[in-house]
Amino acid sequence: MLISPYYDRQAIEAKVMAGKHRAVVGGDWEELGQFQVDFLVAQGLKQHHTLLDIGCGSLRGGVKLIKYLDAENYFGTDLNGSLLSVGYDIELAKAGLTAKLPRSHLIVDGDFDYTWCARPFDFVLAQSVFTHLPLGFVRICLERLCGVVKPDGRLFMTIHEIPADHPADRSYRQPGGIVSYGGKNPYHHRYSDIALCAQNLPWAAKYIGAWNHPHGQKIVQFTRSR
Ligand SMILES: C[S@@+](CC[C@H](N)C(=O)[O-])C[C@H]1O[C@@H](n2cnc3c(N)ncnc32)[C@H](O)[C@@H]1O
Repeated sequence: MLISPYYDRQAIEAKVMAGKHRAVVGGDWEELGQFQVDFLVAQGLKQHHTLLDIGCGSLRGGVKLIKYLDAENYFGTDLNGSLLSVGYDIELAKAGLTAKLPRSHLIVDGDFDYTWCARPFDFVLAQSVFTHLPLGFVRICLERLCGVVKPDGRLFMTIHEIPADHPADRSYRQPGGIVSYGGKNPYHHRYSDIALCAQNLPWAAKYIGAWNHPHGQKIVQFTRSR
């Protein structure tokens, strides 16, 4: 069984070739794109900050974040190179913003490998990524990421949350109507388990919870300790 449909890279590429790259990342292109920028700006993101967008897909949030940030301050990674290509060649080009971002700032990566990073990040976003991954990936991401985030830098991660007393193996209907699972996509997580993934690492986890996400996803903040 695949971890999620996103791991079938050929099928994703076929959808991209068919012009469905907006739908592949979940649709609601304008709303969910703007939503991500508005949230990060409210959290203190300034134009001069550097941002890593983990699992950025076809740049639904990316286009608007690139527009907001100073040139070359956005970096995006994704498991699917086809989504990054269409994001740059079609979406960013349509917005007239390719001059603000070298193509090399979009990196194909499904393993949270940040060895390419030349300067540490102020902000990191993983929006609707760990909703498609099992818990162990959260730990791996936190372990690999801590070396490339500035002290006091922050990671915001969205999750499909289940209540503390809900058995992880039982499906759960999320506020937005999506049914999530413990052992298959879309994955749900308990906040206490997410926080545990930061144990013995230089991260402080904080529950933010509801952030008016149109599909009911919750959000967690990790602050890089000094
Ligand atoms: C629902 S889309 C969200 C895309 C983007 N964050 C947004 O909000 O538009 C999930 C994205 O996560 C990517 N993804 C899934 N597993 C991943 C992994 N292990 N590492 C990096 N990206 C991953 C998928 O390829 C897809 O682009």
